[in-house]
Amino acid sequence: MARILLLLAFYFLAATANEYEGEGEGGGKGRGGEMFLLQDSKQVLKTKAGEMRVMRGFGGRGVVNPMHIGFISMEPKSLFIPQYIDSDLILFIRRGEAKIGWIYKDELVEKKLKIGDVYRIPAGYTFYMVNIAKGQRLQIVCSIDTSESLGLGAFQSFFIGGGSHPKSVLAGFDPRTLKSAFNVSSSELDEILTRQQKGPIIYITGADEPSKWASIMQLKQKERLEQVKSMEDEDEEESTWTWRKLLKSVVGKEKNMKGGKRTVQLPDSYNIYDRKPNYKNNYGWSIAVDENDYYPLSHSGIGVYLVNLTAGSMMAPHVNPTAIEYGIVLSGSGSIQVVFPNGTSAMNAEVKEGDVFWVPRYFPFCQIASRTGPMEFFGFTTSARKNRPQFLAGESSVLQSMSGPELATAFGVSEERFRHFVEAQRESVILPSAPKKKMTTEEPVAPLIRSFGSLI
Ligand SMILES: *[C@@H]1O[C@H](CO)[C@@H](O)[C@H](O)[C@H]1NC(C)=O
Ligand SMILES: *[C@@H]1O[C@H](CO)[C@@H](O)[C@H](O)[C@H]1NC(C)=O
Ligand SMILES: *[C@@H]1O[C@H](CO)[C@@H](O)[C@H](O)[C@H]1NC(C)=O
Repeated sequence: MARILLLLAFYFLAATANEYEGEGEGGGKGRGGEMFLLQDSKQVLKTKAGEMRVMRGFGGRGVVNPMHIGFISMEPKSLFIPQYIDSDLILFIRRGEAKIGWIYKDELVEKKLKIGDVYRIPAGYTFYMVNIAKGQRLQIVCSIDTSESLGLGAFQSFFIGGGSHPKSVLAGFDPRTLKSAFNVSSSELDEILTRQQKGPIIYITGADEPSKWASIMQLKQKERLEQVKSMEDEDEEESTWTWRKLLKSVVGKEKNMKGGKRTVQLPDSYNIYDRKPNYKNNYGWSIAVDENDYYPLSHSGIGVYLVNLTAGSMMAPHVNPTAIEYGIVLSGSGSIQVVFPNGTSAMNAEVKEGDVFWVPRYFPFCQIASRTGPMEFFGFTTSARKNRPQFLAGESSVLQSMSGPELATAFGVSEERFRHFVEAQRESVILPSAPKKKMTTEEPVAPLIRSFGSLI
């Protein structure tokens, strides 16, 4: 208990120190908050079959549980064992193909996901993931929304499957309780709770294992159990998935209790590459997915976006009035500029594939693709509602809409001069390259977190 309190106290301190005001400006390295939360990525697990890294995110003022960005990489024929975590996940399939199995409305449902798919797994729901692409690594970028989390560390996994490593949460119960709960002998129990020792991401044995499972999932429940049973019998290898038996028990129990069959409407995924851009011109396109496009996002309060800028183009300077934005450079390179409320530069950083940036709500910013090629970036916003960015330049910008004597006076010029100035840019949202101009020297890299190159 004392330890938990201590942890909480520490977390609170860390969160407080991350607030914008009142931090010491440490010169070269930027804001003080960086020392607490702006660490490089943390590898939260690594096994022979895969790894997961987490970039700690930020909250604004008073946000104790910020959003983090997770990177999962799984080798072919591997399994992320069943677990639930204390955070909502929005998965984005960056490369490869996945099958996600999870318990939805008391049923095990399985969903195949392909490149570009967005899928939500709610906090507290048990799920597993399998890499089902032949010979291809599975790469997933996910948001980890900790607003419902315990607040201990980035997030907390509770493994259902497991053995000596990782430990199944079941192992924490008194063995006698488990024996009667599962109606099994001590030796059966021991076997189940000690065999797995290869970590949370493991290779699955047998080339056809996933498809076996897929076909089983399509059978009626009773047949399914029979089938699982026979699979069990024929599979006597050392490396049998120990959790499978467990799952069988759990699923079996449930069936007994519930009786009858039901059809469960499986929550769908949403493919971000399959749709038309919200905005498109000669200089690039952008897609924003909100709760109106993909309903599960409304539960998470998170939006998803994807932008592709042609070489040298920029996303016009803009502001997110309702959301913090997180971005991951998927390909190409460029720069991100973020501005303080007092009109000084908060960041002007070059970014490349794999870099992660974030932009606080209200802070004006822009993204610019390098002249050497297009830049594609993907990310999350902390609002599932339509995020209406307010543009500060270009047609449809606040400045053009408000153009008139008031604004002209505010800039201290004649209305005519002002109109001339704001109307010079005919394009909107995504703007062409400016005439060649050297980039200003790099500012301290405050909200930028680096070094994901190898994972994306
Ligand atoms: C426990 O298992 C035994 C046989 O293995 C069975 O006869 C009994 O009905 C089971 N009890 C429950 C509560 O499922
Ligand atoms: C982004 O745009 C470039 C052209 O500017 C194109 O070659 C590339 O395929 C686009 N990326 C995606 C994901 O559509
Ligand atoms: C502008 O605001 C930032 C952050 O609050 C601060 O670090 C910087 O010193 C300010 N600059 C000026 C010129 O006031």
